[in-house]
Amino acid sequence: MNKHLISASLLSADFARLGEEAQSVMDAGADMLHFDAMDNHFVPNLTIGPLVCAALRRYGIQANINVHMMVQPVDRLIVDFSKAGATSITIHYEASENVERSLMLIRQQGCKAGLALKPETSVRCLEGLYDKMDLILVMSVNPGFGGQTFIPEIFDKIKHVRNLISASGRHISLAVDGGIKINNIAEVANAGADVLIAGSAIFNEPDYTKVIAEMREQLATVSPHF
Ligand code: DX5
Ligand code: ZN
Repeated sequence: MNKHLISASLLSADFARLGEEAQSVMDAGADMLHFDAMDNHFVPNLTIGPLVCAALRRYGIQANINVHMMVQPVDRLIVDFSKAGATSITIHYEASENVERSLMLIRQQGCKAGLALKPETSVRCLEGLYDKMDLILVMSVNPGFGGQTFIPEIFDKIKHVRNLISASGRHISLAVDGGIKINNIAEVANAGADVLIAGSAIFNEPDYTKVIAEMREQLATVSPHF
């Protein structure tokens, strides 16, 4: 049976001990890692790139790593991140000159292809791309920083995207990123998300195992839409 996946966003981890943090959060029960690459151009913040992704693999991290590229342009970094060990790569609709070509490039590199929508990005941008995507990432905060508050209007957008995925008949994951906490994770899943990305809600707590178990308890109340 399918289940909801909890993806731990490393943005709120201690970057000075990133390998250890990634391993701890996986040992604590996370399903996968979410890796936010920011370029101080597409978003007003600067974080980590392919060298750090490769370093995590060398450290011994075997978990799936979803690279969330908040960078522009995207194509060269798609190749670099795939070589660095990314499992899936998500690009922003506005960041690529040719979204269809960039999504195809991600798959050609052997990774799962994802498309991210900022809060103001219309779901119409998904048209014609369903056969090119493995993942849609709906952002529930403005990209750039961890620890922001979930924008409530996004619940309707999640429902809308879930319906569009169902209508497409394709197996596409729906990830939601930003402001997910123990107290709203079930509502986000209920709206149709199957991958729940959480950064500060996990890494700002002293006990990762406890917070992930509490998230799972909440998710257990939700029947899967997929
Ligand atoms: C924000 C990033 C998120 C971030 C979420 O631009 O894409 O992945 O880590 O952080 P929280 O869960 O703290 O909102
Ligand atoms: Zn992210």
